[in-house]
Amino acid sequence: MSQQIDWIEVRDQAKEWILDAGEQLKKAVHSELRVESKSSPNDLVTNMDRQIEQFFIKKIHETYPGHHIVSEEGFGDVVEGEEGILWLIDPIDGTMNFVHQKRHFSISIGVYEEGVGRVALILDVMNNDLYHCVKGFGAYQNDQKLLPLEPTPLEEAVVSVNATWLNRNRRIDPEIVRPISSMCRGTRSYGSAAIELAYVACGAIDIYWSMRLAPWDVGAGLILVEEVGGVATRVNGNPLSLLSQNSLLIGNPRTHETVVTHIKKSISEGLYIQSE
Ligand code: 2AM
Ligand code: CA
Repeated sequence: MSQQIDWIEVRDQAKEWILDAGEQLKKAVHSELRVESKSSPNDLVTNMDRQIEQFFIKKIHETYPGHHIVSEEGFGDVVEGEEGILWLIDPIDGTMNFVHQKRHFSISIGVYEEGVGRVALILDVMNNDLYHCVKGFGAYQNDQKLLPLEPTPLEEAVVSVNATWLNRNRRIDPEIVRPISSMCRGTRSYGSAAIELAYVACGAIDIYWSMRLAPWDVGAGLILVEEVGGVATRVNGNPLSLLSQNSLLIGNPRTHETVVTHIKKSISEGLYIQSE
């Protein structure tokens, strides 16, 4: 139960591990990587994704027996529900960036208790930026406390969205994406959902949206953004489900509401959007 767990201590322990893992990735980034494809030729995994995931799993199981782990490369536990303490881990978020750009990739760790986010850490490895929070104690970029999000109107908002969703695809009619991209002040795309969520938390971008993200992509970022007063739903405004793949629309409450209103209007006019 929560009163028996010192979440600050869990954060400190996880911080030690994530910084160690970051050093491992920095050493590896310019070395020869073994790169393979998973679900599609563009869905990449490297020897380092696996190495870092196994590093965390060993540390967590040794230190916190009884905690469960859901992680991208499948070395974690078989988890059926949100009961107990759950670590959502992405050893490299933005693997394509890790392989091609050699920057803009992150490690993402979110710790949940009975489905409630308690501790979040996102390390932007090459920038040495650690975004972290313990629920109720404020969110930080390194030692700097992040401020509550400002309610930005859409015309002044910077929106992060992957250009993939402007292509015709089975998840969303691109005619829903296009008007929002032209109504806002500007768009960006970084290729690591965890970094994009950290950017929402520190106000660098106002909205991030995607039609498909996995629990380990968003586990930490949801806690971080919530801590600064942000709102997160599926793109049609429906609630998220922590352990499923979801679409995601996240940002400051005012811009979030405006975008959801536009999307709902598009849906009522017959444009399609996949329910997740
Ligand atoms: P990854 O690098 O850990 O795979 C890219 O826009 C973002 O979407 C990254 O955070 C990437 O995470 C994530 N992503 C890429 N392919 C995905 C998929 N098939 N399902 C869920 N998330 C994905
Ligand atoms: Ca990953």
